[in-house]
Amino acid sequence: MSARCLTVPEWRRRRASPEWAGRRIGFVPTMGALHEGHVALLRQARAENERVVLSIFVNPTQFNDPADLAKYPRTLDADCALAAPYADAVFVPAADELYPDRYAYRVTEYELSCRWEGAHRPGHFDGVLTVVLKLLNAVQPQRAYFGEKDWQQLQLVRGLVAAMLLPVEIVACPTVRAADGLALSSRNARLSAEGRARAAEFPRTLNTAPDARAAAERLRAAGFEVDYVEDHAGVRLGAVRLEGVRLIDNVRL
Ligand code: PAJ
Repeated sequence: MSARCLTVPEWRRRRASPEWAGRRIGFVPTMGALHEGHVALLRQARAENERVVLSIFVNPTQFNDPADLAKYPRTLDADCALAAPYADAVFVPAADELYPDRYAYRVTEYELSCRWEGAHRPGHFDGVLTVVLKLLNAVQPQRAYFGEKDWQQLQLVRGLVAAMLLPVEIVACPTVRAADGLALSSRNARLSAEGRARAAEFPRTLNTAPDARAAAERLRAAGFEVDYVEDHAGVRLGAVRLEGVRLIDNVRL
């Protein structure tokens, strides 16, 4: 059973206790609604560190669409049960604790964050980078674990750590997929059974199309609305919408 820490002072007391002090701490930040993708991060953190802390915080500042924030699943008890074999502590801060400034202070990146997800979700990466900086400062881990599923987020978090001289190692974990190839995501549950079956065409097309333009064309022909497909740095990045559900993914070329 992992201990729940609901406030920053509570977490800091625990971190300073004999059980934690001086130990190598691995940190897995999440917004909850945990699935096997998150569990893979926890498992890797467990294998590489003496203590593991999971955070669950549905970060309001990274939702450019208020309806998306309202619909975001909140399943704290189930999340804690799923994390229990791997996490020694679950940090669940409240919004006013992480934002005593009410978001008056923000981290903005002006290059990579303007592309792809950033171009389609204004303000999204400001929210992500700001909350990741706050969480890293609050938790003070030696290592923090991020999924390659959110490839652009991973690059921006690495850039944040380098830019702000943060004393933490960022560890990337491979994307966990369902048997048909669709990347696991809490959003997949919003698809109808038929939509969920068709969604597997998205990673399949990213993997098999000869170039990004052909991939976008094939996806449109298959009934997806395409936000972008682009090849960059040996990776093919894509975002599509199906039944109003936004799916993002990337594959190595
Ligand atoms: P969330 O979407 O909950 O994801 C938490 C972490 O799990 C991220 O690092 C994400 O890349 C990883 N993840 C999600 N699905 C995955 C999959 N199928 N395979 C592997 N890893 C997967 O990403 C966020 O939360 C937030 O932006 C956060 C970083 C917590 C800041 O609020």
